[in-house]
Amino acid sequence: MQILVLNGPNLNLLGTREPEIYGATTLADIEAACISHGATIGLTVSCAQSNCEGILIDHLHAARGTMAGVIINAGAYTHTSVALRDAISAIALPVVELHLSNTHAREAFRHVSLIAPVCVGVIQGFGARGYNLALDALKGHLTRA
Ligand code: DQA
Repeated sequence: MQILVLNGPNLNLLGTREPEIYGATTLADIEAACISHGATIGLTVSCAQSNCEGILIDHLHAARGTMAGVIINAGAYTHTSVALRDAISAIALPVVELHLSNTHAREAFRHVSLIAPVCVGVIQGFGARGYNLALDALKGHLTRA
């Protein structure tokens, strides 16, 4: 089972970006942990990151037919992008929305997610650990376990 872990804008800066909010773990560390944890639960994890909305959409389109599901931290596009929401809807794959921080405990503009209604579920507020939680949740969803 192949899973895409897709990270959006500014997440390439993890480790140094507002560590009091996002933690000290780098994106490279998160991706390595996803690949490693995925392997222990029978998932083959591929990772991608882009700061560009259109490239994120291209990754979602490419996942159709090759991936069993997607975990996406869409960063700020979560709150703004109808195009990303439409792409998630269009690919008809199970997608888990993920955030390191609890967006509901932050500014009001982060309380709305345009993508949540087209995702199977949302994991947020658990920092980098959330990626492993999302992999477990997606595996359970895919295997009905
Ligand atoms: C984020 C939350 C978003 O509101 C923010 O724009 C991000 C990171 C998170 O992982 O907590 O870039 O997605």
